Amino acid sequence: MDNIKVAESAGFCFGVKRAVENTYRIAAESKKRICTYGPVIHNEFVVDDLKKHGVGVIDDLSEADENTLVIIRAHGVGENVYKYLDDKGIEYVDLTCPYVKKIHNIVKKCYKENRKIVVIGKKDHPEVIGINGWCENSATILYNGEDDLEKIKELSSFDSIAVVAQTTINKEKFYNYIKFLKNTCKNTEIFDTICTTTSQRQEEAMRLAAESELMIVVGGKNSSNSRELFIRCREVCENTYLICSADELREIDFHGKRIAITAGASTPGHIIKEVLNIMSEEKNVPVNGEESFADMFESYPNSSLHTGQIVKGIVDRVSPNEINVNLPGYKGIGVISVDNLSDDPQFKPEEHFKPGDEIEAIVIKKNDVEGTVQLSKKRVDSLKNSEAIRIAYENNEVVTGKVVEINKGGLAVSVNSFRVFVPNSLACEKYTEDLSFLLNTEVSLKIIDFDERRRRAKGSIKSVIIEEKKKQREAFWNEVAVGKEYKGIVKSLTDFGAFVDLGGVDGLVHISELSWGRIKHPSEICNVGDVLEVYVKEIDAENKKISLGFKKAEENPWLEIEKNYHVGDVIECKIVRLVPYGAFAEINEFFDGLIHISQIAKKRIEKPSDVLKVGDVVTAKITEINNEKQRISLSIRDLLPDEPEEEAPVEEAPVEEAPVEE
Ligand code: F3S
Repeated sequence: MDNIKVAESAGFCFGVKRAVENTYRIAAESKKRICTYGPVIHNEFVVDDLKKHGVGVIDDLSEADENTLVIIRAHGVGENVYKYLDDKGIEYVDLTCPYVKKIHNIVKKCYKENRKIVVIGKKDHPEVIGINGWCENSATILYNGEDDLEKIKELSSFDSIAVVAQTTINKEKFYNYIKFLKNTCKNTEIFDTICTTTSQRQEEAMRLAAESELMIVVGGKNSSNSRELFIRCREVCENTYLICSADELREIDFHGKRIAITAGASTPGHIIKEVLNIMSEEKNVPVNGEESFADMFESYPNSSLHTGQIVKGIVDRVSPNEINVNLPGYKGIGVISVDNLSDDPQFKPEEHFKPGDEIEAIVIKKNDVEGTVQLSKKRVDSLKNSEAIRIAYENNEVVTGKVVEINKGGLAVSVNSFRVFVPNSLACEKYTEDLSFLLNTEVSLKIIDFDERRRRAKGSIKSVIIEEKKKQREAFWNEVAVGKEYKGIVKSLTDFGAFVDLGGVDGLVHISELSWGRIKHPSEICNVGDVLEVYVKEIDAENKKISLGFKKAEENPWLEIEKNYHVGDVIECKIVRLVPYGAFAEINEFFDGLIHISQIAKKRIEKPSDVLKVGDVVTAKITEINNEKQRISLSIRDLLPDEPEEEAPVEEAPVEEAPVEE
């Protein structure tokens, strides 16, 4: 048997329903001439019916005076309209859909921050005109315009742009534009302001159309969202018709076909019902989903909520500043601002929630005129977690949380949304005046005081640190052994070395252990906070003292001396120091060799400076290498030529007596 499927999402959305209902209510209550600024919805039947109830339509504000009550419809208006009405003293009721109002707020804020506003939407649509009115009509509007590409190119010259969407446009199209914009413009911030009611309606309609042989979209011909539904459905079902009343059914042959029906956001329930009645009666086909449809349009439930009530809802929309929640049985929107989601100032709703998630929250404020209810999730979490805090307090357990606030007396830690106060004196191991370094960090703490009635708790981070260190110390002394290597953090420096925290216990690296070379102060090698790889040289268990080594044997530069220098080698070296007993000459950057005073010259000298001065480069012979003491002895003298022996005084030859001549 043929049947008709009705889209569950068909018909009035929340914003339209709210605007229409309130307009009827105002018509019944007000004594003034009532006009909507533009038709309250794009549906001539509703507009005609409102006319019968005394509600006219004006397209120009000059048609209103102080005897007129102007109704601002769900599409919203620009800032100048409010100003005009205020200036003229004309009474008005603002029925802008809260979702649209939110766009106004985004645009106003971003425009104030000197950012270029971009609206993805139809430039002639009243909602887009209204949005543009919050940035002095300076927005770039993109949507199927021939000059869209040109406009996007122009946007590249702006330092920062903020992009919003008309609530009823197609999501796919919106994100296609975003792709372009992100590639073209630097600092593009995207606000996905598409109303999920619209996208859900479109998705459901397309699914039904794809399964059907005939698709009926009920809606005004001048209703943007009805036309969009029609276009989308026709993409998947060529037998798609857009009708605005049951009369138009006459022209459609729907006998023997699988049929589905949806309706635009501005289509009143009674019109949809009429269409259904005619189809089911005249063609004798059963209707699926009529029950839910009737529920939705005829007796839309609106249970009363009260402050303090805990409610469960379904996340409808997630934005950086808030999430919107559908509350079953309540026709308005539940709004949970980011500071009512968590205490954490860095909390990002989009990282924790997505549409469709179930959420529990507490009612903190209702606004029946706006149709919104402010909720708090963190208060519910806090209520639930107060029990966990009590147990932690009674059992002296350690809990973890995030530091969410630094105040005069200390700091506030959010432990699963339960705020625990930690006084300044208990925030660190040692009293610290400025605790700002702890903000947004995870800390462990103990609950040291808990007032169940007032739900207040006091905590101590210090006690956890002290206990932790005690445990670490015990573990250290149980395990420590000579030669064991550690990665430690330099805690302090003194003239004689560096104290290194090995995990609750400090050890000393003597200055002579810090470097193979010559250093005057440990700061030449390390600074407080550095991580050093050290090893245990000595343990004084009785006095709980640890001496640490830092230099590595394989890096000992003496190995270089052993390898490259030998007794008897002749080297060139520079005199670097003179001492009474000789002169030191530089072998390399680590070692100097001693030329003993007796090895400076062949002859005896009084002092080294008689022959040498600092800076002289001399040639010397290695006469000794003492590996144990790491000393080198040199001699210049050994290379000097022997001094010639002094000639012996010529003894006067004895005068030979002249031979006596005979
Ligand atoms: Fe508002 Fe969404 Fe309807 S923006 S008017 S609830 S389609």
